[in-house]
Amino acid sequence: MNELDRGETKDLILGIHKSAGLVILLLTLGRGLWRLAHPAPPLPPTMSILQRRLAHATHALLYAVAVAMPITGYIAVAARGRETNFLGVLPVPILVPLDRALAHNAATIHVCSQYALYALVAGHAGAALYHHFVTRDDILRRMWPAFPKRS
Ligand code: HEM
Ligand code: HEM
Repeated sequence: MNELDRGETKDLILGIHKSAGLVILLLTLGRGLWRLAHPAPPLPPTMSILQRRLAHATHALLYAVAVAMPITGYIAVAARGRETNFLGVLPVPILVPLDRALAHNAATIHVCSQYALYALVAGHAGAALYHHFVTRDDILRRMWPAFPKRS
């Protein structure tokens, strides 16, 4: 996206990127609210305190990044006065002041936090595979109800 010259193709790709990002924001907020009323089942007793803390911290950070990325992306665009047309039909109001420095800082945070996302997802998915193949508990299976539980 960033390497394309300004034009229709870039606008199209950025438009898809923005709408997809806002869909992720809505899904994450919805899931977060649902989660407040529906606690996750307890972690397996075989997990150490350190593993539990790491798992909870990673989940919290994944939520934080999945909220922060679309918001900073939105600010990067809106603070330049550019509109976002959600799914091509719904104009998203510009809720931030016109401010080049704000737009620039938001874009920097937006682009840099992708590396936090990659690291978190890699650690998170790696941990899920570790649970499944090494400690052989039901952590991965319980995310996928069609898989019968081991115990
Ligand atoms: C979870 C949601 C999102 C993720 C993971 C994400 C990820 C990214 C990544 C990785 C880049 C850098 C592309 C590159 O350097 O090659 C980028 C750029 C960009 N994103 Fe997002 N994005 C998200 C949501 C949004 C939203 C909702 C908007 C706007 C409404 C947006 C607007 C932008 C803009 C304008 C750029 C270019 C920034 C610049 O280089 O100045 N993004 N995004
Ligand atoms: C190959 C990819 C992935 C696998 C195998 C995977 C696996 C899992 C598993 C097994 C759990 C359940 C942990 C438990 O029962 O306590 C979980 C929870 C979670 N995952 Fe993933 N995940 C993946 C990708 C992602 C991605 C890309 C994100 C976000 C960007 C994410 C965010 C979360 C969050 C926030 C939780 C905690 C949910 C909660 O307790 O509310 N996961 N994941």
